[in-house]
Parts: sequence; structure tokens; C-alpha cells
Amino acid sequence: MGICGGVGVARTPTYNGPLLALIFSAESSMRVLYLASEATPLVKVGGLADVAGELPRAILSLGIDIRLALPFYPSIKETHFAVEQIGEATVKHSQGGHGAEIYATQIRNVPVFLIDGDPIRQSDDIYDAPEIDVDKFTFFSLAALASCEAIGWQPEIVHANDWHAAPSVAWLKAHRDSDGFWSGVASVFTVHNLPYMGSDAGQVFTGYGVNVTDLEDLPSWSRTLPLPIGLATADWLSTVSPSYANEIQTPEFGHGMEQLLQSRRERLVGILNGIDPEVWNPTQDTELTATFSHDDFGSRTKNKQALQSELGFETETRIPLLAMVTRLDQQKGIDLVLDALVDMMNERWQFVILGTGDPVLEEKARQFSTTYPDRIRFVRRFAPKLARKIYGGGDLMVIPSRYEPCGLTQMIAMRYGCIPVVRSTGGLKDTVEDYEPEGHGTGFTFGPVESWALREAIQRGLNLYEDQAAWWALQRRAMMKDFSWQRSAEDYHDLYRGALEEKLA
Ligand code: GLC
Repeated sequence: MGICGGVGVARTPTYNGPLLALIFSAESSMRVLYLASEATPLVKVGGLADVAGELPRAILSLGIDIRLALPFYPSIKETHFAVEQIGEATVKHSQGGHGAEIYATQIRNVPVFLIDGDPIRQSDDIYDAPEIDVDKFTFFSLAALASCEAIGWQPEIVHANDWHAAPSVAWLKAHRDSDGFWSGVASVFTVHNLPYMGSDAGQVFTGYGVNVTDLEDLPSWSRTLPLPIGLATADWLSTVSPSYANEIQTPEFGHGMEQLLQSRRERLVGILNGIDPEVWNPTQDTELTATFSHDDFGSRTKNKQALQSELGFETETRIPLLAMVTRLDQQKGIDLVLDALVDMMNERWQFVILGTGDPVLEEKARQFSTTYPDRIRFVRRFAPKLARKIYGGGDLMVIPSRYEPCGLTQMIAMRYGCIPVVRSTGGLKDTVEDYEPEGHGTGFTFGPVESWALREAIQRGLNLYEDQAAWWALQRRAMMKDFSWQRSAEDYHDLYRGALEEKLA
């Protein structure tokens, strides 16, 4: 019996040898259910939303029938998106079934299931207190599966993202052998941010019948946390850059999961995120004062001037303009930047930080900007329009992350000719090549988590900025880098194909 109470649906077709070629051909429409807790433009808190809002479209364009499942948060109901109820499902629970309502909408041609129900309605916020969230996202994950059954759409791959969707892969592992609808379905679990593991889900999982076993490879403290359980139970694991896939197998970045990840390394892949070249397009960006391209970016200084003036800085375009567009989080190394810049007061530069987050870091940034008002501005807002002006007018984007699974800012910055200064870690390492005087590279990188190391990298940037021809060549190289989703989508396609092949074997 399936996860939802008794809706009659066709069984998974049993594929055999000759059919293999057919199902792997482009026309066959492999079916993928993609679960995430956020996706642009419906709901965004962090980088996961950009991925879930953009990647499925690129996968769809490969001829894969991919559908996105999202919680139908109260905030989505206030948007103008046209939604339609397409069904109802029941999620089994020891205290009786929990009803789920299934709504449908589309994000740029990608079908979206919006899952509603009491656990999702109980909070106005996307993320709330840990115990509310565990209940909400466990319900969401299982209701998404139940919804497929209820409407009779049978995925071949369940692709879950981050801890919020991990219960779906754990449920699948526990039930698919005894469940006709889900037998033969493969699971993929993608980690966007390893330290966010969710909170104790022991009781909630038991209530929903997610009886996970085989968790011996996990440290005992983690055996009731959703993300570790996802890591242990998914058929395949991925993370969002090749370097981060290696790093999380080490004690420095593994947050206690390193041994499990090492033991599963044959099933762990790093697939670099992309950016949508239509969404991030300096030739057409209406927020810019002047649009530009890698062939002709002379007018870019108009953006810089407009930005300097909007920020209340001297509008002298020869002064290098440094920027950070970020969540204010310990991960992002804001403290390193502030310490580095204090030691660079003899240099000419201006610096803007745009973002919100940790109150302690916000306060530090605020103090810094009040101490040096003519060269530092802290804009404590979530301001997508200003962010675009910064990408299109800033000179150096400073990204000294302590760890960075992928990072999107550096890719967007490069596309807009704003040169990244990055710590060489995770996705930053995989996307930014260090500048070399012979004319190679797309940015400036450094290694140690130390403000002096960052200062040296910034200094190299400031020095090169004086040499306008070399700087323009660097900008041009950065702007020409291809970070489109096509490449990632093909890698996910390979992963799905391998996962299915294994199930069919
Ligand atoms: C998380 C990571 C970031 C990554 C994003 C999307 O926000 O911190 O590095 O780019 O997820 O995968």
C-alpha cells in the first residue's frame, strides 16, 4: 500500500533489456520529482531558491519530465501566481492520516506542485522554530510523494534538496521494496549547505512511519537529524561543486559527516551550479543606467557613477569600488573584510555591503560605516535592484567565505564585469581562476582564512586596477565565462540515467 490511502494508479512499468534503449532516448521523458523548500520567483531566502527556480527548466529542456514540489507557504498565496487545485492526498500518520491539498502552477514551463496542509499553514514564515520546521517539512516531503500517487504521475527519480526534503528519500528507502507504486524508483539527495542539518526528527519520523534503519555509519548524535539521514539513505548524493564534494569528506568541512561521506564517495558527485543567462544579462538589464556587453563595456562607468552617487560616495570613477552582496553570516567572512580594509586606509577605495543577517555582524558593519562614512556604506536591506546596480557598476566583489558549497554571486559578478576576490574554497575555487600577469585568470584568489591573506588579494586587485588595459582584458575574460545551466543539467541527466540504470539492472 502506498503512502497515500488507496488511490488506484498504474504500477511502475517493468522495463527489460530492449526497452532500455527506448527509455534512455530523448523522447522517453524520464520522470523526475524535484523537491525543494524554496524556488524563485515564488519564494526565496537563499541560493537554493535560485537553483530550484532555474535548474529544473534546464533539465526540462533536455526532454526530461521534471516537476517541482514546493510547500504552498501562506506567502505564496499572496502573490499573483495563477494556481489551481488538482487533487487531494492523505499522508499516513500513526495518529490518523493528515490531509494534503495539491495545487499546480508553473515556473517558466516547469510544472510545480504546491503542497498544502495543516503543518504548512501553521506558520507564516518560510523557516520557523526548529520543531515547527521538522514537522512542516516532513509533512511536505511525504505529502509530495503522496500527491504523485494521488494524481497518478509516477516519478522514476525522486530528487530531494537539503534537509527539508530529506524525509522523502528516507521514506522511499524504508518503503519502496514493499510498495508497488514506488518500487524501482531511485533517489538523489543534493546538499547545498551541509551544516544545516535540521533538528531532532525522531518522533516526527516515527509518527509518519519513516522507519529508518542502517544508520550505523552515522555518528550517534546525528541519527535523528534529517540531513544526515538523507545522506545515509539516498541512492545517490550530490553537492553543488566538485571541490565541495571533496571538502565535505574531510574533518574541516565535513561537520561530522566526513566518514559517512567517505564511505559513500562512489555515490557522491559534485555538480557545479549555473546562472540563468537571461535573468543575469547586462546587455538587457533594465536596472542598469547603461547596458553593456563583453564586446563593448565603455559605458559601464556610467553605472559606476550612478551607483557612487546613489550610495553618497564621491563620483570619481578612478576610485576602485569594492562590494559585497551577501547574507551576513559567519560563513561569508565579513569580519575578514572589515579587518583587511582597516589596514588599507592609505589606499583609495570605496566599499559597499548589501545584505541582512546575523545581528552581531550587522552591528559591526553598521559601526564600520558610521566610522568611515565617505568610503563605506552598509545597506541593511534585501534589495535585488540595488544588487544589480552593484554587479553592473562595482569593480571588485569580495567573497572571502570560510566555506562555500557553490556560491552564485561570483558568477553573476563576473558576467557583469565586477571582478571577484574570493577565498579558494568549494565552488569559488571551481569558478574563479586566479589572475596571472601573462593575461590569464578571471579574479583574485587567496587561501588562508586570515585578513592579511585577503588584504593581499585585494591589494593585487587594486594594483591591477591602475593598469587600465590589463583591467579591461581581465573584465572581458570574466564576462565571457560560460556559467549557463546547460552544463549542469547534462550532468544531472547523467546522474539520473546512472541511477535508473542501476535500479533496472
Ligand atoms: C547555499 C550555499 C551556496 C550555494 C547555494 C545554492 O546557499 O551556501 O554556496 O551556491 O546553496 O546551491
